[in-house]
Amino acid sequence: MTSDRSCYVYIVLPGDVQFTTAGRFRIRRGPRGTATGEFVYGRSYLERPEAVEFDPVELPLANRLYRTGRMGGFFGAVRDAMPDYWGRFLIERRLGRSPLAEFDYLTEGPDDRAGALGFGPTVDPPAPRLQFPGTVQLADLQAAAEAVAAGRVVEPAGGGAVEEMVHAIFDEGTSMGGARPKAVVEDGDALWLAKFSRLQDRWNDPRVEHALLALARECGIRTAPSRIERAGDRDVLLVRRFDRERSGDGAGWLRHRMASALTLLRTDDSPTGRERWSYLALADEVRRASARPREDLRELFRRMCFNAAVSNSDDHPRNHAILARGRSWRLAPAYDLTPAPAHSLERDLSMICGPEGRRARKDNLVAGAGRFLMSREDAEAIFAEVVRTVRRRWLGAMCRAGVGAADRETVRSAFLPDGLFFTREP
Ligand SMILES: Nc1ncnc2c1ncn2[C@@H]1O[C@H](COP(=O)(O)OP(=O)(O)O)[C@@H](O)[C@H]1O
Ligand SMILES: [Mg+2]
Repeated sequence: MTSDRSCYVYIVLPGDVQFTTAGRFRIRRGPRGTATGEFVYGRSYLERPEAVEFDPVELPLANRLYRTGRMGGFFGAVRDAMPDYWGRFLIERRLGRSPLAEFDYLTEGPDDRAGALGFGPTVDPPAPRLQFPGTVQLADLQAAAEAVAAGRVVEPAGGGAVEEMVHAIFDEGTSMGGARPKAVVEDGDALWLAKFSRLQDRWNDPRVEHALLALARECGIRTAPSRIERAGDRDVLLVRRFDRERSGDGAGWLRHRMASALTLLRTDDSPTGRERWSYLALADEVRRASARPREDLRELFRRMCFNAAVSNSDDHPRNHAILARGRSWRLAPAYDLTPAPAHSLERDLSMICGPEGRRARKDNLVAGAGRFLMSREDAEAIFAEVVRTVRRRWLGAMCRAGVGAADRETVRSAFLPDGLFFTREP
């Protein structure tokens, strides 16, 4: 039987740049291998007037022992701060073992994780990470990402100082989630998520995602600024991190809390967890958590219509989040937008989007208007506006992002599939 594991949890409080010790997280192993997660906020943390909750649904500020048996004992807020496929892959590669105990993916990942939390073995918090690679290293990082993903060993060529540095940076990996190879880089007083090209990509993924982020903005959706950088003969997408901001005195990074829709919906990626993936249920949670519920729900509805209009079926709950820039929560900017071209007339979103389930069809989308605190007329108007903008602008957005003619043809069928306009027979 594996033994219990525990660590301290730190947080960078609103307006601060240093970690504060906030509580203690433990995984207890029971008989027959069951795992229970336990979390307590520290008493001295709770006494601080500036103390904030990790998330608004599962771990509100309270002097009590929280327990969970879900997800192997990992609370949603902890899981949101952990790497997924790509970050895990790099940790396994560095340690030369796979798979690792779940707890190791938490403690072995670098301090670049999404949101404001940190984890470590000592009651005194560590100094937060200040150094990140710059954009001049993107070409090396892209080359290394490709080699590593292809299973090739990356040796520092010639052992030069630059190669050694890139090697060190890359070995450290990232605690950011997602499957695509990525790294966090610093540029122009901000931190950016660099999303690399992959050999198996069916189209120029960085440019297509960049185009979709631009198209979303044209549809009135809030997204983080993005741009394309050349890295050798490849393209890399840079998306500015909305959970990091340089402090006013330049001495460090402010960290904004983040909670994914997975956490808000108290669910996960498992087949049974997927039953709870729902825009309607997410709307209920955002209504309760947000400081501006009406505005955020309109925005969420608009994103749902957009995802249907561009066949973004990768709109799962880890690709939606709420963000707290200060004490209060708002819907985070939209991110990770990808078109899924297909021959079928009708498309499904990955989350339930109306009374007819996941079907991306106009009547299904607008039927849930009330859950978004909107009238049916308002919902129809937003749907129509998104459709009109996508129709007029998608090709231009692709061209402006430098997506080539062949790739534009490959993704064309994702935009405004016929099934979007079907209505169900009464
Ligand atoms: N602009 C951003 N600022 C802060 N965090 C982000 C941003 N974009 C994505 N994230 C976080 O990083 C994770 C991975 O990014 P994502 O774009 O979803 O990559 P992938 O395509 O590999 O899924 C997301 O699940 C989210 O937690
Ligand atoms: Mg993602």
